[in-house]
Amino acid sequence: MSTFILAFDQGTTSSRAIVFNKKSEVVAVAQKEFTQIFPQAGWVEHDAAEIWYTQLSVATEAVLKAGLTLRDIAAIGITNQRETTVVWNRKTGEPVYNAIVWQDKRTAAYCDTLRAAGKHVSIQERTGLILDAYFSATKLKWILDHVEGAREQAVRGELCFGTIDSWLIWKLTNGKVHATDMSNASRTMLFNIHTLEWDPWLLDLFDIPASVLPEVRSSSEVFGHTQEVLTGANIPIAGVAGDQQSALFGQMCLHPGMVKNTYGTGCFMLMNTGTKPIASKNNLITTIAWKINGTVHYALEGSVFIAGAVVQWLRDGLGIIKTSADIEALANSVADNGGVYMVPAFAGLGAPYWNQHAKGTIVGITRGTTAGHIGRAAVESIAYQTMDVLVAMEADAGVKISELRVDGGATVNNQLLQFQSDLLRTTVVRPVITETTALGAAYLAGLAVQYWKSMEEMEKYWQMDRTFHPQMADEEAQRKAAGWKQAVHATASYVT
Ligand code: G3P
Repeated sequence: MSTFILAFDQGTTSSRAIVFNKKSEVVAVAQKEFTQIFPQAGWVEHDAAEIWYTQLSVATEAVLKAGLTLRDIAAIGITNQRETTVVWNRKTGEPVYNAIVWQDKRTAAYCDTLRAAGKHVSIQERTGLILDAYFSATKLKWILDHVEGAREQAVRGELCFGTIDSWLIWKLTNGKVHATDMSNASRTMLFNIHTLEWDPWLLDLFDIPASVLPEVRSSSEVFGHTQEVLTGANIPIAGVAGDQQSALFGQMCLHPGMVKNTYGTGCFMLMNTGTKPIASKNNLITTIAWKINGTVHYALEGSVFIAGAVVQWLRDGLGIIKTSADIEALANSVADNGGVYMVPAFAGLGAPYWNQHAKGTIVGITRGTTAGHIGRAAVESIAYQTMDVLVAMEADAGVKISELRVDGGATVNNQLLQFQSDLLRTTVVRPVITETTALGAAYLAGLAVQYWKSMEEMEKYWQMDRTFHPQMADEEAQRKAAGWKQAVHATASYVT
């Protein structure tokens, strides 16, 4: 009887589940958006219980759609929005506060004080990360400091901290396993990427009791089994990775120098740098890509906080489109951006600027500006931000990146990818399967249970769908990039 791998892709705006077969083809997909909570300007939260329920329900739905039962699933792989911080009671399993989302900037001022005290240097040396509210450490500290009784409970060993992977593993195993994988641990700003352990100096700096921390495992091993009472079957949870590292794996960027860019809520470009961590000189971060069979691989990453989320904002915030899919028609209703640039610094600016306090900006508006131009500028902002990151990555790598593998929802948009290639002056390659985030987690799980025997076997399944080569004249690309630079400059100089 043939079996399948089920991937959980718990993203920032939706929970998704995908069933893959042996040839790594998508058999069925189910997806549900969940509530985004904005309690104050700059704050972003999720209800951890809603994350769990939506994830469980899409898993069941995907398996049903595939005409299967959970007993046909050989293993589960989990991939997740990273950094988002959950703290829950070890006994009751109840979260003590909403999950604080990676985009949340409530701890930016605290980060400023740490920087002023010169702590950012040692933080970066130990974690590979640039000091920013983006990462989990300051969010965890905020919960312990602000939720009544939380710190006392934590000191008594009664609380668990985890990123979303840990939370889902805990729920699936009914509280039997409190663990994370190394790729997720490396995003907490509490994990030393050289010693490969939770770092006592950082725990001390952020005042975090070690008892709250999950056990750190590799990315491809059996973490535990789903509890029959919850899911109807005992399925091994055998692959776990942060979504961007998972996409790097799913894109089969297994060798040093290979680069992918995922267009999701944000945009995240990662370059595999092999088994040694490389410190960036151009404001990128160093992160753990995965640990498999005892070997740790590292990556350089350029994190852009708002990409697809800009489309969601046009829909839910501004209300100029009804559904996300309407963005393509709106953007193509005009011949060009009409001189309008949008810098969607809705959660500050990430790489390569790292400005926690920046706010979104639209420049170049005239009486002739239409909703079409705003839509166009929004879509183009995704490509411009990616351009900035690629420039930094090429400077770090010391070579021109000849090929960028792309994936994620927005890569269905051919115009966007053509524009991307025009700006980057680089070939952009879209694979047949653009569900590479989920595929990576499926591969990690499948490897652990020998569903797939080797990475070489998996590499054969990666197939190109279409390549995009630069077509725009050099001069025009440079003129457009210069307009973008001015818009970023205007954004950075507006401080409130
Ligand atoms: O670091 C944040 C990232 O993991 C979020 O990914 O797919 O929700 O944009 P995504």
